Amino acid sequence: MAIDSNFLDELRARTPITSVIGRRVKLARSGRNWKGCCPFHGEKTPSFYVYDDHFHCFGCGVHGDVISFVMQMEGKNFPEAVEELSSAAGMEVPRDTRVTQEEVAHVRSLGDVLEAAQAVWSAALYRPEGRAGLEYLLGRGLSRETIAAFGLGWASAGRGHLVEALAPLGITPEQMAQAGLMRVDEDGRPKGELFWGRVTFPIRDRKGRLVSFGGRILGDGQPKYLNGPETALFSKRRLLFGLDRARAAVRAPRPKGVAAPDLVVVEGYMDVIALHQAGFTGAVAPLGTALTPEQLDVLWQVDRAPILCFDGDGAGRRAAVKAAETGLPLLAPDHTLRICLLPDGEDPDSLVRQRGAQFVAEFFAAASPLSSVLFDLLVGGVANPGPEERAALRRRLTEVAALIPDKTLASEYRATLLDRFFATFRPQGRGRAKGSPAGFAAGAVRDTHTVELDNARELQRLMLLLLIDHPKLVAEMEEALCRLDLPVDFAPLRGVLLDLSAEGRLPQTGDDLRAWLSEHGQEATLAPLMRVEGTGLSHGDVETVAARTRWWHFYGLLYRDQFVREVTDDVARFFSEKTGDIGQWQRLQARLEAMERLRRGGLDDADI
Ligand code: UTP
Ligand code: MN
Repeated sequence: MAIDSNFLDELRARTPITSVIGRRVKLARSGRNWKGCCPFHGEKTPSFYVYDDHFHCFGCGVHGDVISFVMQMEGKNFPEAVEELSSAAGMEVPRDTRVTQEEVAHVRSLGDVLEAAQAVWSAALYRPEGRAGLEYLLGRGLSRETIAAFGLGWASAGRGHLVEALAPLGITPEQMAQAGLMRVDEDGRPKGELFWGRVTFPIRDRKGRLVSFGGRILGDGQPKYLNGPETALFSKRRLLFGLDRARAAVRAPRPKGVAAPDLVVVEGYMDVIALHQAGFTGAVAPLGTALTPEQLDVLWQVDRAPILCFDGDGAGRRAAVKAAETGLPLLAPDHTLRICLLPDGEDPDSLVRQRGAQFVAEFFAAASPLSSVLFDLLVGGVANPGPEERAALRRRLTEVAALIPDKTLASEYRATLLDRFFATFRPQGRGRAKGSPAGFAAGAVRDTHTVELDNARELQRLMLLLLIDHPKLVAEMEEALCRLDLPVDFAPLRGVLLDLSAEGRLPQTGDDLRAWLSEHGQEATLAPLMRVEGTGLSHGDVETVAARTRWWHFYGLLYRDQFVREVTDDVARFFSEKTGDIGQWQRLQARLEAMERLRRGGLDDADI
């Protein structure tokens, strides 16, 4: 028995292609068929069509049936894709190993077709017909060694050349189409060669196997670059240009004390090649689309903190934000990302040629951890935001931190981001005195002015309990609340309070807040506060004014000098600006009273 085509036919018949694709792509009716945005190349207007038994993208040319959709989308091989669909359809795959072998042979033959094309194109670059291509590459500063090492080539300007050149090897246009060298019509029939009149860039997988090509037009013209379509061998979502060479370079044995090259993700083919030539052998690039989660996984297999390099202009910053949003849900304590923003309007290729390798090396060395650039990326350029804008920004920062699945890491990111937020945008009239820009970083406060108290945890516990009983105070205390260097088990409750407050949903009384927490499965955030029994603090019986005073008293015990300085500044400002209202004065009074208690020293018995 050869391929059990009956089984495959039945599998296809029992597997509605629209529902398999519809799980990944938002589809809308288009006449008898369906259409959506192609999942294989980044597009905003739909050119991806789903028919009864196949799909076709008029944008990138990807084409296939339900089995090849699963192969291309999930990077599975043929038997794996058949297995997945069969089990979803409740069918059992007949165990005939020849199916697998034939498929493997088929895939290998696609590789052979590509290698045959590579042989034709790389030879053509050095013949008269390829002269313009070679001169173009040399003119862009590539050496002959680099051109040869990357296997760059020339696809002749006339159409039909490749079909003719491969025919004597027994390679048909249909096979070329399966290998991604042809455009195809909507029935999958070859319609003409994809690459002609272009410099060709072989695209290899991480092990160096040829899987597709990119092609650049000489000089200006559209499209500037063409990439091969998705095929059984080539999945744009998983591949990075240059990864085979970068991986080998990072892993190569080296003398003791010599560091491995950084893995650096840049935007384009030419950036990768120019960087390799300049000695940055860890350079790779995605294939014209935003970085995908699959690509990040592949990168982390090579380096625990790859550098993502972006142009310093608006588009580059947006791309950096996008990459950060893709990366955050995947971050873990042992793998992270670094970000490098280049000068406006420059790419690594132009920089390395105009300013030299040393200049670029310094940029890479200055790449910042994601945690420290995230705030600048998200908030960069905002000045004097009004209340609505402040709320929106803060919400965005909170949401972004919440993308990180690791709870401890997420709470660190949230604290770092909000800390920067309050240090940068204090509400009007409360601007910090000049010359103390870092004064609010939690670390700085701790290092310089804080009397380390053995009972810091206990004080913080009481401060949180006071806020639980008097949720109205949260808005007033929130900057200080953010600055508290809370133990990890207290931090989630702070997160909930800040979120509710930011969204204007904070219940107004302690009872309502406790009810809210239990209704929303958040009682666990309260548990750490309850662990010490018998403090004598009875819930609900503390007057707001007294609570406010105590809260600040405790805060002052933790950050005494900082607190005294803030209160003194705010009192001075209150009297000099003459814009304050009675409520503002009452709030200040509470802090003055707390300061007085601090001066008297210690805690009154009544406080605990
Ligand atoms: P860029 O437009 O930034 O070009 O595209 P570049 O790499 O600086 O190219 P040169 O220096 O002008 O030659 C970055 C990457 O985006 C993809 C390619 O992968 C390219 O390397 N791209 C760009 C396309 O796929 N199609 C295009 O038309 C343009
Ligand atoms: Mn460029």
